[in-house]
Amino acid sequence: MLPNVLQRAADHVPVLADEVRELLAVRPGETVVDATFGAGGHSSLLASDLEGDGKLIAIDRDPSARTYFDRFKAGSGVQARFLRGEFSLVLSQLAANDVQADAILLDLGVSSMQLDRPERGFSYAADAPLDMRMDTSAELSARELVNEADERELALIFKRFGEERYARQIAGAIVRRRAERRFERTGDLADVIKQAIPTPARFGDGHPAKRVFQALRIAVNDELGALEAALPAAVRMLRPGGRIAVISFHSLEDRIVKQFIREQARGCTCPPEFPICNCGNEPVLRDLTRKPLRPGARELEANPRAASAKLRGAIKVGD
Ligand SMILES: C[S@@+](CC[C@H](N)C(=O)[O-])C[C@H]1O[C@@H](n2cnc3c(N)ncnc32)[C@H](O)[C@@H]1O
Repeated sequence: MLPNVLQRAADHVPVLADEVRELLAVRPGETVVDATFGAGGHSSLLASDLEGDGKLIAIDRDPSARTYFDRFKAGSGVQARFLRGEFSLVLSQLAANDVQADAILLDLGVSSMQLDRPERGFSYAADAPLDMRMDTSAELSARELVNEADERELALIFKRFGEERYARQIAGAIVRRRAERRFERTGDLADVIKQAIPTPARFGDGHPAKRVFQALRIAVNDELGALEAALPAAVRMLRPGGRIAVISFHSLEDRIVKQFIREQARGCTCPPEFPICNCGNEPVLRDLTRKPLRPGARELEANPRAASAKLRGAIKVGD
């Protein structure tokens, strides 16, 4: 195990940090892209592997990440720049401008700073304005979605992105309530969700509003759409021999990553019933993690938020 030199980071403990470092195997002189900079926990570790010689490009759609980047840059000892934006767009632009990378990390989802700041409206545990935008300048917030989307759309969001059993009942309760008074606050929404669930189910798996809040967050930030578009853009940016690592936090994300790596590692897109390949496509990636890497007991004890994390990685072939 490599030493985890970042345990002092106060705001966000980087998940699977040693495993990410081993998988990306960053060497001096390389270019690293941290597409989900957050508080820069992983970036600090990867920058230390550059040993003062190399570049780090940091991306985040959340403007508050800039403060962490400034602090990181001052102490990192490497060339670093921050690009604020949605990672699929930024990666596509970089690839279109022939910027190449040796290592790319996507650590998906929200950061502890976003979750723990009640005013960001991500948490059902604190009463705050309904927001949930990672990019605070984006048009769509949870408030718009909860007050404007029709009942079927809400139920679909809760079912698909939250795997919520009572999706239809909750969507119905929301629509009835908002006909009298619009939703403005997380606490108010959490109460309505709780009331819409049959009493015995309220005491089941965690807080009754957990899955609906997750679903709204995924929808507001189009998290799955961004991931689907980002993976091919990231691979376009990679040099031959370049590595990509992705940490996901729920099965919907992990499925997208797993399928993408499988397809790119297979190359051939001919239907299985074809006796010989006639598409001629060559593998683009080699899978580095046939099974995803998970946090060990020690990490889970220190950081329970890592519980659902899964890390997958691949290397671009041709070196
Ligand atoms: C789990 S945190 C990353 C934490 C970081 N690895 C660290 O150690 O501090 C995810 C970060 O990625 C950002 N993010 C998530 N999806 C994004 C997207 N599609 N485009 C750009 N940034 C995104 C979030 O704003 C958040 O700051």
